[in-house]
Amino acid sequence: MSERTFSIIKPDAVRKGYTGAILAEIEKGGFQICAIKKLSISKKQAEGFYAVHSARPFFSSLTDFMSSGPIVMMVLEKGNAIADLRKLMGATNPANAEEGTIRKQFAGSIEENAIHGSDAPETAAFEIGYWFAGYELV
Ligand code: CMP
Repeated sequence: MSERTFSIIKPDAVRKGYTGAILAEIEKGGFQICAIKKLSISKKQAEGFYAVHSARPFFSSLTDFMSSGPIVMMVLEKGNAIADLRKLMGATNPANAEEGTIRKQFAGSIEENAIHGSDAPETAAFEIGYWFAGYELV
């Protein structure tokens, strides 16, 4: 059964010109792009998106980073989309990411790690609804 997940190409990867290469990996991975947009977000918007991490020591730095430049956000669809995207992304810390994963190829550090992907169905539903209206999904 087909499943939707939410993904962001983060400011570090957009800045370095990796947007197209990361989209190619996503399409090669069999994902359909249901919605996509490039935008800059405010620190407040980043804080709302990452509210689940608000008690973490890296919260302020993370929300500064995420609002530091344009990002590309997407809704992606395929069978097992949530787990399959996380596999394609690789470990949060690129130093631990497997060869061939997006983070191994394109990420610089545990914070500036090139890509975000939802970690569970409830998170995906929250994240999609946070950034996209229903009519934007095709
Ligand atoms: P993401 O998958 O978007 O979810 C939360 C983000 O917080 C994560 O990717 C990283 O960008 C960041 N993050 C997670 N752990 C750390 C850490 N130990 N130090 C700094 N940033 C982190």
